[in-house]
This record gives sequence, C-alpha cells and structure tokens, in this order.
Amino acid sequence: MDPINLLVVEDDVLMREFIAQTLSQGPYIVETASKGLEAQKMAERKSYHLAVLDIKLPDLSGLDLLSHIKKLSPSTEVVMMTAYATIEGAVQAVKMGASNYLRKPFSAQELEAAVEKALDYQQLKEENKRLRGQLNLQSGYGMMVGKDKKMQDVYKLIELVAQSHSTVLIQGESGTGKELVVRAIHQVSPRREKPFISINCAAVPDNLLESELFGHEKGAFTGAISRRKGKFELADGGTLLLDEIGEMSLGLQAKLLRVLQEFEFYRVGGSEPIRVNVRVIATTNQDLTQAIKEGKFREDLFFRLNVVKILLPPLRERRNDIPLLAEYFLRKYGELYHKEMFSISKEAMEILLKYDWPGNVRELENQMERAVVLNSTPEVRPDHLSLQYNLRLDKTNSFSALVGLSLRKVEKNLLLKTLEKEGGNRTRSARVLGITVRTLRNKLKEYREEGWTGK
Ligand SMILES: Nc1ncnc2c1ncn2[C@@H]1O[C@H](COP(=O)(O)OP(=O)(O)OP(=O)(O)O)[C@@H](O)[C@H]1O
Ligand SMILES: [Mg+2]
Repeated sequence: MDPINLLVVEDDVLMREFIAQTLSQGPYIVETASKGLEAQKMAERKSYHLAVLDIKLPDLSGLDLLSHIKKLSPSTEVVMMTAYATIEGAVQAVKMGASNYLRKPFSAQELEAAVEKALDYQQLKEENKRLRGQLNLQSGYGMMVGKDKKMQDVYKLIELVAQSHSTVLIQGESGTGKELVVRAIHQVSPRREKPFISINCAAVPDNLLESELFGHEKGAFTGAISRRKGKFELADGGTLLLDEIGEMSLGLQAKLLRVLQEFEFYRVGGSEPIRVNVRVIATTNQDLTQAIKEGKFREDLFFRLNVVKILLPPLRERRNDIPLLAEYFLRKYGELYHKEMFSISKEAMEILLKYDWPGNVRELENQMERAVVLNSTPEVRPDHLSLQYNLRLDKTNSFSALVGLSLRKVEKNLLLKTLEKEGGNRTRSARVLGITVRTLRNKLKEYREEGWTGK
C-alpha cells in the first residue's frame, strides 16, 4: 500500500510536536510546518492525503491556506484546529471544504479519530469515483453511449489521438456520431480550454468558403467592408472541425493542403502571412478513396488528413447498442419534456432491433423523441414508431393492393421490406431479390438521395 502523507501546520511548537508525535504512531508519514507560506510551498510540491491546519497562523489565515490547498489538490482532506474563540471560523472552514474540525485542547484519541474519519471519507469518495468511472466506460464514453466492441475501439482511438496533435479523419455514414467524436477528442485533449470551431464545407458556397476559412482583408472583394478573421484564426490554440470535407472544391483543397503543411496562410486579399496552431479534424460520410479515383478529391490532401483515421460503424453493425441507445434517448427526452417513466414494450424493441437504421443513431434519436412527445402512455409500443420500412405492403398480401403505385415505389418497398426481413443483411437481401449487392447499394443510395431517411 502507498504511504499516507499528512501535513501538520501549527505555529505553537509544543502543540506541533504533540500532533506530530501522536500521528506518527499511526500508519502515516507526517511532515510539519510552522508557517502558512512554508506549508503552501510544501503543498505545491506534493499532494498530501490530509492536512491538519491551525486556523490562526502568524503569516497567513488558516482559511486562506485551506482554500489554497484545496485548489492545488481537491482530494486532500483538511482537519482544522480552532480555539473556542474562533468557532465561526471553523464553520466557515467546513463550508470551504474542510472535512471536520478539532476544538483545542483535544486529546490524542480525539485527534486520531478525526484523522481516521476524514481518511475513511476520502476512501469512500475515491471508491465512488472509481465505480462511476467504470460505469461510464462500460456503457459509453463521455457523451457517447454504446458498449459494442466496435465502439470500444473508437473510444480507445479517441483517447490516443487526443494526446497528439495529428490530423484526424473521421469517416462514417450520416448520423453515426462523427461530430460527437470530434467534440470528445477536443474535450479530452490538452486543447480543451481553447476554442472549438467548426465549419460545414457542404453548407457554405464555394466562393465564400475560402474567406470563411482564412478570413479576408477590408476591400478584398465586393462586400468585404471590413477585415474579418477566418475559422483558422478563430481556432488558434484549439481544434477546427472541417465537416463534410469531401464537398470541398479541388481549388480550395490545394490551398488547404498548403496550410496543413505549413500552418501558415494569407487572409483573402492579404499580404501578411498568418501563423496558427490548430488541430484539424475532418469528417466525411463518403468513401474518399472512391472520390480520389473519380478525380474529385486530391490524393495528397487525403494522405495529409488521414494521419489517423477513425471509422464509425453504422448502427446496423452494432445492434447490441440499440437497446442502450434507445433507453438513453427516452430518458433524455423524458427529462426534456417532463414526461417520466418511459419504457419500451417487448414488441417495439423487437422492431427496433431488426430495423436497418439508414439514418443511424440520429434516426433512432428522432424516433425516441417522437415517441416521447406523442405518447400519453408510459410505454413505447410498435404503433408509436414511424420507421421508413413500415410500409403499406404490410397490410396485404394481394397484388391488387399495389395497383395505383408506380413501379419505382413498388420496387423500393419490396427492396426495403426484404432488407428488413433479412435483418439488414445486404448480401442475403440481394440474393433473395436476385440482384447484386452493388445494385442494391446503388438503389439504397438513390433512395437516400430522394430523402427517405427522414433526415
Ligand atoms: N454514441 C452516441 N451516443 C449518444 N448520442 C449519439 C451517439 N452517436 C450519435 N449520437 C447523436 O446522434 C445525432 C447525430 O450525431 P452526429 O451529428 O455526431 O452525427 P454525424 O455522423 O456527424 O452525422 P452527419 O454526417 O449527418 O453530420 C446527434 O444528436 C448525436 O448527439
Ligand atoms: Mg456531422
């Protein structure tokens, strides 16, 4: 076991010796100081398990010393010593985080008891913290819920890259939680106190994106009425998220590459080079290697971004996490809309588990929010769900029911229904439908572009 380090601060030499003597009988390593500033220096060099402080010191008030020690090391327990005259100070001390106080004069037993009690309490707190940490890691990571092996791997990668400055590329289908991962990396990185800035490359028209990224000087173009800082400058010291990097034009890709290599750039219309220290994280929901083949994405930029790659699995490839996520979102929206005690019926859960989730976690979140908002009963049942695959085909087996629908609609319904039946397995579905997996994938992509994910 590690030694338990105690610090005793008392200006009265006899009292100090008495305390040190008494506590040295126990399993402690005792260090002493006679002045506040001396104690402060000692606490800066090392963190003690517990400090016994006199409330009245010649150079510094015991309360100031208490708050200083707590600031340096919040887990250090503090026992204050007071005379009768300063009992108000003792109350104040407890408010400021002291675990208890001793009234002078006190016996050796009273001293030992106070110290033991404070240390027991400390151990309890540590144990709680450890258990809570385990719970968090078992069911997710920070804001992220999910304990599937694939997600555990993602969490490990987050921890690893957070400590580095390397560029990160996050790839995953829409709604898989890419932005959440970027935020998590920023939060656990040493840059957490610095800005987190993001820009969606798909949402900003190409001719504006350059000045959004790098800023512009007054008069650089029509409408540039004053100098403006770009996202790179705003993110200095922190993290910059380039969302949907695949949508950036080739011209701008070249400029971005230069910045990533030199960390230096010019504002639009500017002649002064600007240097920044920014960690860049890019996300994409497309396969960039395919975009490279098609000449839409620069290979050199890809390699520069792809120093570390985090691949977020679609929800249908980590179905274990569906109940956990569903319950989490129910609780979240239950609290938000002041509706409590939501649970999911067995039948509804079966549907959730089988569904293909083309919109991934976002779609599940939307479904659960909808269920909370629309429900007056505390249980989510199948009819509270509105999934894309709940199709009209369900209601009948007869072909006549299809008359009036376009071929395209029937094709789409059949395809989705088959996928649902095969538990989202594309290979098996394609076999049943008599088409190749590639055709299936292309069709799904078309449907998604038509906006059937509900996004
Ligand atoms: N593991 C998770 N735990 C909890 N919430 C999650 C998780 N993954 C995603 N979400 C939630 O799902 C929604 C979508 O996540 P996010 O915006 O990060 O996805 P995305 O991959 O960036 O999507 P897009 O490509 O459409 O931008 C958010 O509300 C997010 O909070
Ligand atoms: Mg996103």
